[in-house]
Amino acid sequence: MSRQEAGANASSLVAASQQVTVVSQVPERRSAEEANQRSRGGQRAAGGGGWRGPPGLQQPVVAGFQEPPLSFRLKNDWVGVVIGRGGSKIKEIQNTTYTKIQIIKGYPEAEVRIFGTEEMQSKARIVIDNIVKKQEEYKSEPKVDVAAIQPLDREDTKKDVSGNQKLIDWDKFRENILEWSEKKWAGLPLIKKNFYMESEITSSMSQEQVQNWRKENYNIMCDDLKDGEKRPIPNPACKFEDAFQCYPEVMINIKKAGFQKPTPIQQAWPIILQGIDLIGVAQTGTGKTLSYLMPGFIHVDSQPSNGPGMLVLTPTRELALQVEAECSKYSYKGLKSVCVYGGGDRDGQIKDLLKGVDIIIATPGRLNDLQMNNFVYLKSISYLVLDEADKMLDMGFEPQIMKILLDIRPDRQTVMTSATWPYAVRRLAQSYLKEPMIVYVGTLDLVAVSTVKQNIIVTTEDEKRSHIQTFIESMSPKDKVIIFVSRKAVADHLSSDLGIRHISVESLHGNREQGDRERALKNFKTGKVRILIATDLASRGLDVHDVTHVYNYDFPRNIEEYVHRVGRTGRAGRTGVSITLITRSDWKIAGELIHILERANQSIPEDLVEMAERYKANKLKKEMEKKLGRPQGKPKKFYY
Ligand SMILES: Nc1ncnc2c1ncn2[C@@H]1O[C@H](COP(=O)(O)OP(=O)(O)O)[C@@H](O)[C@H]1O
Ligand SMILES: [Mg+2]
Repeated sequence: MSRQEAGANASSLVAASQQVTVVSQVPERRSAEEANQRSRGGQRAAGGGGWRGPPGLQQPVVAGFQEPPLSFRLKNDWVGVVIGRGGSKIKEIQNTTYTKIQIIKGYPEAEVRIFGTEEMQSKARIVIDNIVKKQEEYKSEPKVDVAAIQPLDREDTKKDVSGNQKLIDWDKFRENILEWSEKKWAGLPLIKKNFYMESEITSSMSQEQVQNWRKENYNIMCDDLKDGEKRPIPNPACKFEDAFQCYPEVMINIKKAGFQKPTPIQQAWPIILQGIDLIGVAQTGTGKTLSYLMPGFIHVDSQPSNGPGMLVLTPTRELALQVEAECSKYSYKGLKSVCVYGGGDRDGQIKDLLKGVDIIIATPGRLNDLQMNNFVYLKSISYLVLDEADKMLDMGFEPQIMKILLDIRPDRQTVMTSATWPYAVRRLAQSYLKEPMIVYVGTLDLVAVSTVKQNIIVTTEDEKRSHIQTFIESMSPKDKVIIFVSRKAVADHLSSDLGIRHISVESLHGNREQGDRERALKNFKTGKVRILIATDLASRGLDVHDVTHVYNYDFPRNIEEYVHRVGRTGRAGRTGVSITLITRSDWKIAGELIHILERANQSIPEDLVEMAERYKANKLKKEMEKKLGRPQGKPKKFYY
């Protein structure tokens, strides 16, 4: 069909936007309605932003561009995906390539015309071709449901003798999934993963030296989480040269930054550089970014460059920008990075992606959006980082992460970082990392807490008295306990209660005279009195070494205070015990308490987990109600 014919035959105009013209060419089905549409469309085309040309000819010329349009055929099947919902896709293509695009419907194929400079025309064509290619791939990939279920309908789900339907053949189902997955990832180049050359100094370290070094460096713990036979944990790279002696560009950047030595979490380097998946757990601000960026640079630089090689997923825009800043600061061999985050200039981000990049730093929501719209190619990613995984889970990003990972090759190397190591993060690691190792750097407080056996009792306010009574009755003569309470009044009540029962106690709170407080403390320190009832404030700076038990009669205001209180026992190499009463009024803190218990390898009572879950559900319900504008809480009663 010539351009003139197309123009002359154009009968209806279905514009996805003011700037997109889709002309349908169905001469035999002309109706009055179509004629109306035609004239409406003609006006729209003529009046559309930037379009010029004689109305009716449907041959618009974009202002400023004199080149003839680039014209090619497009199967009608793909017209919809190229236009996108409400014209969104084609608008994006136009905006990012500075072109105007016209799609003229015809049978069996439509005609696409791209107006703009020659360079931009071919850029837009590439984008459209990619969209079509992806759709074709998608359509040709055997769908799990179709491939797996249909044959069963024919053969395996025939009714048996008794007339019952046979069950699904799950083995066949799994086989099909495997086949489908193999097809999807077939033909990709092998990933090079091992770049580690252990330095002589590192390899000459004795086991004792290794252990001592780790202990002195914030008690770094390294472990192999692979099932079965464990692999050797590499010796620590105590100096930067020990990890990067073969990579002078990395060394130059480190020298420029003026760093003295690797931070504890950067012991991830020898592991990641060997191509092993890694989980890095350490507090915020401890250098986790460089722990994965440096090996990532080396990894990406060594792969055949056919698209982005490294993807870093971060929970927030601020963190994404921070990672990007580190990426640029320590730039390696001119690798290009782009930051893709929600709320940012989407078109600009798409343009940057189309220019070609090596490293993508993204928040899951925005990347998921661009992925769904075919603006980002993820099949070439061979180094994936889930940064601040705990925060990403807290922010509810797991579904987006799952969708993103569907397009990333399964034989990639994956690194995950987190400031905490709760159950949810472990589960995520189990799902997305393969036979990982872990580098764990505990905080000082938590190290102290790990020497304390922490017991939690979920109870009610009324039952607290009987719990403390049972505990005091079970105390042995050498035990020494601090009972923490929330308020002065509770301290007074409790001490008079116990006093009545001839149990000798001291109490420490802000309302007592200084002299009384000093005497109370002295009696407790010397062991004259073995039970001290205290509020948080009054016990600040309290230094008693032989406390065997901490009893949290009231739960502290926050989790830091909990760690602080529990750390009062188990000091100076001794083991300690803590007992904590927690009631429904403290349920807000249950989740955080579970984190702490997990990190200190303590057992977690079932009713505490239930309490945390109930709180979460309740919070969600309240948020939903707020969104829907419904009244919150219990319905008010009205009396007539
Ligand atoms: N080996 C090091 N020595 C000193 N500072 C470092 C070292 N490695 C990284 N840093 C710096 O520490 C700061 C915090 O690091 P960052 O990676 O943001 O922490 P995290 O991700 O653990 O919260 C950054 O400014 C970073 O440049
Ligand atoms: Mg970080």
